[in-house]
Amino acid sequence: MSKKTFYITTPIYYPSGKLHIGHSYTTVAADAMARYKRLQGYDVMFLTGTDEHGQKIQRVAAENNITPKQYVDNIVEGIKKLWDLMKITNDKFIRTTDDYHVAAVQKIFKALYDKGDIYKSEYEGWYCTPCESFWTETQLVDGNCPDCGRKVEKTREESYFFRLSKYQDRLIRHLEENPDFIQPASRRNEMINNFLKPGLEDLCVSRTSFNWGVPVSFDEKHVVYVWIDALSNYITALGYGSDNDENFNKFWPADVHLVGKEIVRFHTIIWPAMLMALELPLPKQVFGHGWLVLEGGKMSKSKGNVVDPVILVDKYGVDAIRYFLLREVPFGADGVFSNEALISRINSDLANDLGNLVSRTVAMINKYFNGSLPKERQSGDFDEDLKSVLGNLKSRTEELMDKLQFSTALAEIWKAVSRTNKYIDETMPWALAKDESNRARLAEVLYNLAESIRIVSVLIQPFMPETPLKIWEQLAISEEERTWESAGTWGVYSNKSPVKAGEVLFPRIDIAKELESLANMIPSGDSKQQEKAKESKAEEKVEGVQLIGIEDFGKVELRVVKVLSCEKVEKSDKLLKLIVKCGEEQRQVVSGIAQYYKPEELVGKKLILVANLKPAKLRGIESQGMILAAEESERLVLVTVDGDIADGAKVR
Ligand code: MSP
Repeated sequence: MSKKTFYITTPIYYPSGKLHIGHSYTTVAADAMARYKRLQGYDVMFLTGTDEHGQKIQRVAAENNITPKQYVDNIVEGIKKLWDLMKITNDKFIRTTDDYHVAAVQKIFKALYDKGDIYKSEYEGWYCTPCESFWTETQLVDGNCPDCGRKVEKTREESYFFRLSKYQDRLIRHLEENPDFIQPASRRNEMINNFLKPGLEDLCVSRTSFNWGVPVSFDEKHVVYVWIDALSNYITALGYGSDNDENFNKFWPADVHLVGKEIVRFHTIIWPAMLMALELPLPKQVFGHGWLVLEGGKMSKSKGNVVDPVILVDKYGVDAIRYFLLREVPFGADGVFSNEALISRINSDLANDLGNLVSRTVAMINKYFNGSLPKERQSGDFDEDLKSVLGNLKSRTEELMDKLQFSTALAEIWKAVSRTNKYIDETMPWALAKDESNRARLAEVLYNLAESIRIVSVLIQPFMPETPLKIWEQLAISEEERTWESAGTWGVYSNKSPVKAGEVLFPRIDIAKELESLANMIPSGDSKQQEKAKESKAEEKVEGVQLIGIEDFGKVELRVVKVLSCEKVEKSDKLLKLIVKCGEEQRQVVSGIAQYYKPEELVGKKLILVANLKPAKLRGIESQGMILAAEESERLVLVTVDGDIADGAKVR
């Protein structure tokens, strides 16, 4: 029986300069999805590439005294290297300058012309060169390009037009009848209400004012203007319009086109209309994800505030960067990139939660059993809960991955990591090891830890190409114990060969030092002045006391937290930075208690956290909540709990 197929695409990127972390975001997401489907046994086609034509490229090349092809060749080489660095597993890389693409676009253009869906007329309107977009008078915003806000130029020339208006009703019907066609749903409503219902105008699809493009085969003074050329890549890459359309027959229609939110319109209106005109099936889904922005606004080369993924991968490794991109922001929403957020995630999720879990488990199996667990094992308290969380993890992860919810899928996996860490606290293997009569129980506890790690290591494969291998080596997890299917079954780990300690998976990073070194290399989007203003605001004191009602008090969420680690904030004699555990979650809190407590005194203490305070930055370090303390002239003592209660418990 032939395998089920899965076809996923990224947009094809403009090679007008080096790609930044925002571009990597789309490609990493597509790669995670492609890896996931391959692991599930699908025959996957994952396409990415470059969109190389247009006036802008022609201009830049001329400025550099080289041909447009020389110019793009050079940049495309860099893009391919970046994808290698990010461990992108695309099955095909299309360049719109590839001969087969050019020939197929010419055929498509001609077929649409022959059908009457492309006709010649005259274009008069406004053109935005950086965006390569034509706009009508009414579409302009304050006389400027509605997409980028830059100046537009008036143009008038003979052009070919695509009869987009003819497809308006069919498009509305398609969107209404296929609620999943555009994801997330908010983008679907935007398309229907803002573009389709007000009425579609025919689209200008050729240009005579520049010649860096696919020539119209039957009227050579025209070149095909951007969208027919660019969008066709999704089918020409499969051989559509060539002698060999085997891949087209196998993979089309695409399962999902991943695109940034600003090009959803082209992919859900122009592209389906083109396909309708060609009498081809429509893609099953277009997913419009949000932008990764810096605190100062969208990354753009012209603003000079782009974040270079190469620097980040060199410093922290590809797995940490891929993890951060997919974990930090719910896929679909906009998200802020900051160096602090990146390092906090690496420290808390990767170094503390996963890295420590693996190294502690391997170390304990070595210490107590010389690397090999005995067959005699004895189950006990807490085992069932651990097994049920880990046992269901595969199906919960799959459910979320199928909806491209990368961030929640990772959150779900990390909940299981936290559950496993909690199991260590609950079962206290070091205490069991003190008494020979507990050997069987100790063996079971360590087996359960290794088995939980095995399941996690299999499920993180779509996101992290390197870490699973390192874990498998350390725990001696064999090939059969690594299959995707095996993550759905508890008890697969065989420990046939002894475990062996290896390198630390994610070394902890000294935030303060690292931020300083990064600030010299990567703009954080935040000027020093803004930073200062925020700090002083965070430290602002409210004067006077006011009576409040119980409902006001109810707005404050107080929780018991346990201090996991604590360190002094560099260059501050007042601040300590604490990592605290609050149930399943970990928080980083900066507190002005350094004159009263030494960091090592606090580790293990249970304190009270104001858990729903807006995050604030102190000395550039994000504080996710506030620790309560009582103050008396020169003295300060931390508020703590009277009795044994789990962290995460609510304080009322
Ligand atoms: N060439 C067109 C796409 C044609 S597809 C038939 C194009 N290229 S682009 O290089 O400008 O952008 C490619 C993709 O990168 C878009 O989906 C865009 O949304 C995405 N991103 C560019 N900057 C981004 C961020 N800062 N954050 C997230 N995605 C970003 O558009």
